[in-house]
Amino acid sequence: MMNKIQEILKINFPIIQGGMGNISNAPLTAAVSNAGGLGTIGAGTMKAEEVEEIIIKTKQLTEKPFAVNVALSVSPYTKEVLKLLIKHQVQVVSLSAGNPAPYIPKLKEHGITVICVVASPKQAIKAENAGADIIVAEGYEAAGINSNLETTTMTLIPQVVEAVSIPVLAAGGIGNGKGLAAAIALGASGVQMGTRLIATKEAPFHNHYKNSILAADDQGTVIVGRTVGRVRRVIRTPYADLLLKREQEGISLEEFNLLTTEDHHIKGAVEGELEQGFINGGQISSIINTIPSVSELFEEMITEAKEQLHKAMAQF
Ligand SMILES: Cc1cc2nc3c(=O)[nH]c(=O)nc-3n(C[C@H](O)[C@H](O)[C@H](O)COP(=O)(O)O)c2cc1C
Repeated sequence: MMNKIQEILKINFPIIQGGMGNISNAPLTAAVSNAGGLGTIGAGTMKAEEVEEIIIKTKQLTEKPFAVNVALSVSPYTKEVLKLLIKHQVQVVSLSAGNPAPYIPKLKEHGITVICVVASPKQAIKAENAGADIIVAEGYEAAGINSNLETTTMTLIPQVVEAVSIPVLAAGGIGNGKGLAAAIALGASGVQMGTRLIATKEAPFHNHYKNSILAADDQGTVIVGRTVGRVRRVIRTPYADLLLKREQEGISLEEFNLLTTEDHHIKGAVEGELEQGFINGGQISSIINTIPSVSELFEEMITEAKEQLHKAMAQF
């Protein structure tokens, strides 16, 4: 049976990849779409031409739908990138980190499905009123830039599901079938994942990144940037410790931004230089112990989710 998300996005499994600004490239995006989920290119701070190159490569690797994520307050090229997505008839656009309302009508005019990433019921209602098709509600267990509201996925999902009538995907802290089952039990129609997909065969990231996720325990991630109002969850590495030390000493927002540019992200995630760059990672890292292919991961997750939901039914 297909749920609403599967129907709207034309995907087999109710699982989508979260945008990973500047580093989620064509092979991972295509692998997620080919495995029955929805792959997502993260536009990050890339120029429209760079995003275009990845879209073209992705189309060569999959005939399935995929999305592009634009983090509105992060991208200096929002307007150019959105124009490009319309030109390439990208079927799904995900908007995060900013007010999506001014951008939704144009995308909808061109038949594009719009996903909005939110961190509160209030933001979800605004996105629905502005015409969003799907909400991703992301709790602060998640990797990367988080909302200053710091609401957990467990408490956020039921509130957002109650607040809107469009389908909701849960993000933040989901990495296996148990997490998928829990999200469904909370009223979500599926999940968006980031961290779990980094530890997959197709993810184009440095082995130091993947191994750091495998090695992380329950204290393996930290929030940096809280003192300057830029909450970001990263794996605890020498560079994360340096950021925390600088915050303790009293750092300005400008200095913090300079230490967390996309260059520092690429240094850590792609080049594996864990003393010179940071690596985003969510709290779910502590349960990740394997590096499967995306397809193996999805099959496992669906089987486990079904088992969990059956077990849960037997309790009542
Ligand atoms: C390396 C990395 C980069 C990310 N960059 C973005 C981004 O550019 N835009 C965005 O909306 N979310 C971004 N995220 C968040 C993910 O899209 C996703 O919502 C999040 O990872 C889900 O939580 P999880 O890590 O617990 O699975 C990023 C996550 C990671 C791991």
